[in-house]
Amino acid sequence: MTSKLLPSLATIAALSIGAAVAAPVNYTVPEETAAFKPGPNLEVVQNNCTACHSADYIKTQPQGEKFKKDFWQAEVTKMIKVYGAPIDEADVGKIVEYLSATY
Ligand code: HEC
Repeated sequence: MTSKLLPSLATIAALSIGAAVAAPVNYTVPEETAAFKPGPNLEVVQNNCTACHSADYIKTQPQGEKFKKDFWQAEVTKMIKVYGAPIDEADVGKIVEYLSATY
C-alpha cells in the first residue's frame, strides 16, 4: 500500500513542478502612449503626476476658458488632499501654471 502510494505522490509533485517550470509567463507591457504636452515646468508635472495614473487623466478633462487656473488648482488640491499625492507645496504653483497654460 505505502510503496504504491509514495511513487504516485512523487509523480504528481514532479508533474506539477514540471508544469510550473514549463510554462513561464512572458509578456511585454505595451508602450505608454499617453504623454504630457510640452510646456514650461513639464518636468515638475512628470515628477508629480505620473505615479498613480497616466497623462490621459489630464488630457480627458474639459477644456476651454472656464477650465483654467481655478479648475487645475482644485484638481491638484484634490490629488493632494483626497488621494494623498505627496506633492511639495512649492511645486503646486508650477504645476497649476503648466496645466492652465498647456491644457
Ligand atoms: C497619489 C496618487 C495620485 C497622484 C500622485 C496624482 N493623482 Fe490624479 N488621481 C488619483 C486618483 C486616485 C484619481 C481618481 C481615479 C479614478 O477616479 O479612477 C485621480 C484622478 C485625476 C484626474 C481625473 C479627474 C478627477 O478629479 O478625478 C485628474 C485630472 C488628475 N487626477 C490629475 C492629476 C494631476 C494634475 C496630478 C499631479 C499634480 C495628479 N493627478 C497626481 C491619484 C493621484
